[in-house]
Amino acid sequence: MRAGPAANELFLSGHLFIWSINNTMHVERNHMQGDINVITAKPEDVRLMKKLSRIKHTFVVMSGKGGVGKSTVTVNIAVGLAMRGFEVGILDGDIHGPNIPKMLKIEDVQLNADDNGIYPAYVPPHLKIMSMAFLSSNRDQPIIWRGPMKMGALRKFIEDVYWGDLDFLIVDLPPGTGDEPLTIAQLIPDADGSIIVTTPQDVALLDSRKTVVFSEGLKLPVVGIVENMAGLICPHCGKEIDLFKIGGGEKAAKELEVPFLGRVPIDPDVVNTGDEGVPIVAANPDSPAAKAFEGIIARVIEFSEKKGQKEKKSAK
Ligand SMILES: Nc1ncnc2c1ncn2[C@@H]1O[C@H](COP(=O)(O)OP(=O)(O)OP(=O)(O)O)[C@@H](O)[C@H]1O
Ligand SMILES: [Mg+2]
Repeated sequence: MRAGPAANELFLSGHLFIWSINNTMHVERNHMQGDINVITAKPEDVRLMKKLSRIKHTFVVMSGKGGVGKSTVTVNIAVGLAMRGFEVGILDGDIHGPNIPKMLKIEDVQLNADDNGIYPAYVPPHLKIMSMAFLSSNRDQPIIWRGPMKMGALRKFIEDVYWGDLDFLIVDLPPGTGDEPLTIAQLIPDADGSIIVTTPQDVALLDSRKTVVFSEGLKLPVVGIVENMAGLICPHCGKEIDLFKIGGGEKAAKELEVPFLGRVPIDPDVVNTGDEGVPIVAANPDSPAAKAFEGIIARVIEFSEKKGQKEKKSAK
């Protein structure tokens, strides 16, 4: 019986890949059927596979519309997972509007590089971040790139970054159904699934439907829908004000037959703590918004565990 993959082997999707010293010749053996095919792959593909083999679970945060709270959801899930002791990475997939470093107040970090690759920004003890924001010298200068350039950058963010071993990689995407989600789905075909963020208005139903169909089209399982900015807790009287209506996200989840992950209320502290670089799950864990994020994090962990069990079963 094999103890596990040797140094020049890795498992992906139930396949065993072996690469030779010069990284150009590969044997792909399908364990389940026992047949062996010799295939060739480019060295950079091998580098990508090697990097991905050290990342246990990838979740992609997406939405149909802009400004609904994807980056906020990303940092709170990532920080919450890191607070539980998991090794976590955030890949800021928003090339034109990279906000993650600002939300963690690390936008002035200078990245180092050596033979291992580019070292991502590090928030001790368990969080690593890679973003376009670290690479542009002028924060006010827009990045004007077409699809292939963006695809190249996202690829480098995985292939050339020294992520090390990660339990979770959370990918924050720009809104809509453009190049970035397509690229991520191609680069990480084994991603666990998508977390779709929406605001609660009725119109959200339409946007969520598009995003769910898009995610499924990319073979990216939908983990569920997060309804963000649902109701405002009045700071004076503590009563809930139904500002953008409540329930659109949950209704969308029901109609689209995907799980509903939870409802995060509007809370001025989400903005304030975000501006301070300490997401609300860490800054004010007892707040209703932080508790809502904790519920979402629990669902994400549950989803990843189920995927792990399925993979174990199919490998037997
Ligand atoms: N639950 C919330 N309560 C209060 N403010 C919130 C909440 N969620 C997000 N925000 C605020 O809304 C603004 C937009 O959030 P965020 O940047 O996370 O959205 P986004 O979907 O990533 O936007 P984009 O589409 O531009 O990438 C931010 O200022 C954020 O602090
Ligand atoms: Mg964003």
